[in-house]
Amino acid sequence: MKKESKSNAHASHGWRRALESPKVFNLFQRITGAEAWKRRIINEYVKPVGNEKILDVGCGTGYILKILDENLKIDYVGCDINAEYINYAQKNNSGRGRFYCCSVDSLPVHESDFDVILAIAIFHHLEDETSSKLIQTVKQKLKKDGIFLLTEPVWTEKQSSIEKYLMSKDRGRNIRKEAEYLQLVKSVFSVLQSKLIFDSHNIPWTVNIITCK
Ligand SMILES: C[S@@+](CC[C@H](N)C(=O)[O-])C[C@H]1O[C@@H](n2cnc3c(N)ncnc32)[C@H](O)[C@@H]1O
Repeated sequence: MKKESKSNAHASHGWRRALESPKVFNLFQRITGAEAWKRRIINEYVKPVGNEKILDVGCGTGYILKILDENLKIDYVGCDINAEYINYAQKNNSGRGRFYCCSVDSLPVHESDFDVILAIAIFHHLEDETSSKLIQTVKQKLKKDGIFLLTEPVWTEKQSSIEKYLMSKDRGRNIRKEAEYLQLVKSVFSVLQSKLIFDSHNIPWTVNIITCK
């Protein structure tokens, strides 16, 4: 059965309902350049060397696992609240990885000791309280020297009206400013880097990428 988010931070009514389908979501990701951005996240920021244990919180249809070279023998775990996405991820990754259909507030307790935890475009789908709890859970699930990397769409001073309009239509209703994302993570983590990326997508769409320890 499909798990429904009780939160107002994730809108899935009207035309947005179509995006709850894995195939429509994937098409949308390809067209907007979100897929290419995920490749950059892995190749420029995560730079896996092999044998890492990686948790992908809010993994969507599991595209990150497709990017990770099979030869690197990454131990990958993906979690998402959308059961159709998770079914799709399981069917389309040739048995690689472990996928769980669950909310961020009930991540599998037996999965821990991660080298890297990824949160790609998930926090803007979460209320502040859920976000804070997730950050604490991430800390508990990371190895002592593990890395937490999040990327989110971000409000900035200099956005065009087209970009503001596009962001206002996102399913995630909690796009924040860079300072607000930083405030969330700094309660638990030391921030190694926070950058605004202006060319991440094929559409006007500024992204904040934050790496923490
Ligand atoms: C913008 S998508 C990003 C998906 C994936 N990280 C990617 O980049 O392809 C946001 C994801 O968050 C998931 N999501 C929203 N609220 C959630 C919650 N409370 N718990 C777990 N996943 C959630 C949605 O189902 C969706 O897959």
